[in-house]
Amino acid sequence: MVATVRIRQWPKPIGLEPGQVVLEAALDAGVPYPFGCQSGNCGACKSMLIEGEVTLAEYSEFALTDEERAQGLVLACRSMADHDIEIAWIEGEDLALHARRTLDCTVKALDRLTHDITGVTLSIEGGGPFTFTAGQFARVTFPGQKPRDYSMASRPEEADLIFHIRHMAGGSVSAFVAGELKVGMPVKVEGPHGIAHLKESHTGPILALAGGSGLAPIKSIVETALAKGRRGPVHLYFGARDERDVYLEDHFKALAAKHPNLIVHVVLSAPSDTTSRRTGFLHEAVLADFPSLDGAKAYVAGPPLMVDAVTPVLTQKKMRREDIHADAFYTEAEKPKAGT
Ligand SMILES: Cc1cc2nc3c(=O)[nH]c(=O)nc-3n(C[C@H](O)[C@H](O)[C@H](O)COP(=O)(O)OP(=O)(O)OC[C@H]3O[C@@H](n4cnc5c(N)ncnc54)[C@H](O)[C@@H]3O)c2cc1C
Ligand code: FES
Repeated sequence: MVATVRIRQWPKPIGLEPGQVVLEAALDAGVPYPFGCQSGNCGACKSMLIEGEVTLAEYSEFALTDEERAQGLVLACRSMADHDIEIAWIEGEDLALHARRTLDCTVKALDRLTHDITGVTLSIEGGGPFTFTAGQFARVTFPGQKPRDYSMASRPEEADLIFHIRHMAGGSVSAFVAGELKVGMPVKVEGPHGIAHLKESHTGPILALAGGSGLAPIKSIVETALAKGRRGPVHLYFGARDERDVYLEDHFKALAAKHPNLIVHVVLSAPSDTTSRRTGFLHEAVLADFPSLDGAKAYVAGPPLMVDAVTPVLTQKKMRREDIHADAFYTEAEKPKAGT
C-alpha cells in the first residue's frame, strides 16, 4: 500500500496499491463509487480532490475539461497517488443512486436477435430487489467466465433482466454466450452501474442513438420515457452495418404507432445490396437532420468509434455537453490500464 484514500461519502479510509487507480481501489473495498467506462472517457467517476495530489493517466476532454481540472476536479478511474488524499465523488440530482447488489439469476430464455446478437433473459432467483434506472449496466458473470459489463435492455419495472449480447470476433465471454449458454444455467449479476441513464427531470427532445447491441440500453431508455408519459419528440436512431444487423424493428414500429412522438430512423453503414433504407453513418444522419439541438438531450450507446464520432456532431449542433450521456462499449482490452 502506498497511500490512504479518504472518500467523503464512505466511513472508512481505503488503501491504494502502487500503480492502482482510486476507482479500482474503491470498488475492491466495496465502495459504491459511480463509474462507467473505467478508461477516462465518460466522466461518470468525476470527483473533487479535497486534499493531496494525484497523477492523472490519459483521459478525454469530454470526460474532464481543462477548466474542471483547474477547479480541482479529477477522474477517479485515472487517478493515482503516492501520498494520502481525500476525495469526494460529485453528487448531482442526475446521479441515480441504487443499492449495489449481487444477484443469483437463471437463464430463462435465449433469443437469436440477429446473426450475432443474442437476447439473454434472466430470472432473478436471489439477492434482490434489484433497482436500476433505464440505461444503466451491470457486471454479468456467466458460468466459468470472467465478468463483463452488459446494459439492461429491459425496463426497471420488468421482473426479468434482459441483455443483448453481440458475439465479438475473438471475444471469450460473448463467444460463450453465442455458443454454450443454455436455458437453466446460473448467472451472477452485480450492479447497477453507469450514469448514462434516463434523466427524468428533462422534458426537452430526446435523441436516442444506438449502434449494434447499443440498442439494449437505448431500448430501455426509450420505452421508459414513453411509459412515463414523455410527450416531446423522441428520435431513435439505430445504426447497423447491413440489413441482417437490424433487429427489433417491428417492436419499435409498434411502439411508434402507439406513441406518435417516437420517430425511428434506421441507418445502414455498409449495405451489401441495394437498399431503400437510409445509408451512411449515424453521426452523418444526425448532422443532416437537425439545424440545432439546443435544449435536447442525447443518450448514446454502442461501439466506441460510433460514440466518438457522434459526440462532436452533437456539440456542433449546440447541444450542451452535460446533455450528452454516452456509454461506449469498451472491451476489457480496450480499457486502458493506469499509467498508460
Ligand atoms: C458500460 C458497458 C456496457 C456494455 N454493454 C454491452 C451490451 O449491452 N451488449 C454487448 O454486446 N456488449 C456490451 N459491452 C461490451 C462487453 O462488456 C464486452 O466487452 C464484450 O461482450 C466483449 O467481451 P468478450 O469477453 O467476448 O471479449 P474479450 O475476450 O474481452 O475480447 C474483446 C476483443 O478484444 C480482443 N482482445 C482480447 N484480449 C486482448 C488483448 N490482450 N490485447 C488486444 N486485444 C485483445 C479480442 O480479440 C476481441 O476482439 C459493454 C461494455 C461496457 C464498458
Ligand atoms: S471517466 Fe472514469 S469511469 Fe468513465
